[in-house]
Amino acid sequence: MNKEKHLLLKALDREEVSRPPVWMMRQAGRYLPEYMVLRRKYDFFTRVETPELAAEITLQPIDILKPDAAILFSDILVIPKAMGMDVQLVEKKGPVLPQPIRDIAAIDQLNLNEAADRLQHVYDAVKLTKSELNGRVPLIGFAGAPWTILCYMIEGQGSKTFSKAKSFCFTHPEWAKLLLQKITDVSIEYLQRKVAAGAEVIQVFDSWSGILSHDDFERFAKPYLVQISDALSEVVPVILFPKGSWYAYSELGQLSCSAIGIDWTVRPKLARQLIGPEKTLQGNFDPSKLLMPREEIVKATKQMIQNFGIQGYIANLGHGITPEVPVDHARAFIDTVKQFGQA
Ligand code: CP3
Repeated sequence: MNKEKHLLLKALDREEVSRPPVWMMRQAGRYLPEYMVLRRKYDFFTRVETPELAAEITLQPIDILKPDAAILFSDILVIPKAMGMDVQLVEKKGPVLPQPIRDIAAIDQLNLNEAADRLQHVYDAVKLTKSELNGRVPLIGFAGAPWTILCYMIEGQGSKTFSKAKSFCFTHPEWAKLLLQKITDVSIEYLQRKVAAGAEVIQVFDSWSGILSHDDFERFAKPYLVQISDALSEVVPVILFPKGSWYAYSELGQLSCSAIGIDWTVRPKLARQLIGPEKTLQGNFDPSKLLMPREEIVKATKQMIQNFGIQGYIANLGHGITPEVPVDHARAFIDTVKQFGQA
């Protein structure tokens, strides 16, 4: 018997759909009371590195909100950790890398050979999640884009400007390129193994590409997005999310990926005009709008779908959901998309 192809995969293949699929970036996270229970019991990397916990957390939003895709609970910073750097998640501060990269010696010391092997727990989590999903919705695997990973490796923590990371790249562009290439090589192997374990779609988060000028995006971000997109698009649909890099949309429209993630600062019609007709677009509800009254969320969500159009579109937020969003408000967003076009 031929099972019907999932809505997300149809939208990524630009097939005709009766409504757009919907999921939310960071849909497994602190706004869910069920997540908070596990968060009190286990520290962050225990949750990430224990396949049973990662699978359980991945499935929480699927059971509670029923979006059209699951995204594996993990973090982009597993890559620097697998390359040998110490990575900690500090309460109220976010990620901290106590020994950031500041010179070529530190780049030379990074472990490339075993990095992807050290992430066996992720591949195991993919397998377990797939078996527990039992075909309900497709599973998205992800990685950070090399530029965004470099930002954390050099800055050593989150930042509004990432000025240490940027000035390192501007002062030592050859070192930066060496580091970016190392991150890219490890990320490609990691993502290929995630796909081999069962991930059906790959999303690449370039959360900090928008802090680069267009020229610097072309030097330090785009070449590595291209390599990942080319390598992975051979096996699964790839979604690139270069947050804030609207200036590069017309070039991104020429890449091998299936979809581009759009943040809320860009109007859907402008995004479509710049990217062109071929890519599926994903986004771009401002997560802060999930704090509006539910009737307003319903109205704004319908408007967003109308602005993007139903075909070649995946409804999502313009960035991750924040901890203070009431679950019922997230549900209003998802249900509005799922009911779109029904009388
Ligand atoms: O989307 C999902 O549901 C999958 C899970 C996911 C997490 N991190 C879990 C997580 C994904 C896709 C990420 C990606 C990630 N991690 C990015 C790129 C996407 C983005 O949001 O820009 C970045 C920059 C990181 C680095 C990171 N990890 C930060 C900045 C933080 C702390 C700040 C925050 O938003 O919580 C983390 C920790 C983290 N990763 C949490 C979760 C659920 C919070 C952990 C906790 O406190 O319980």
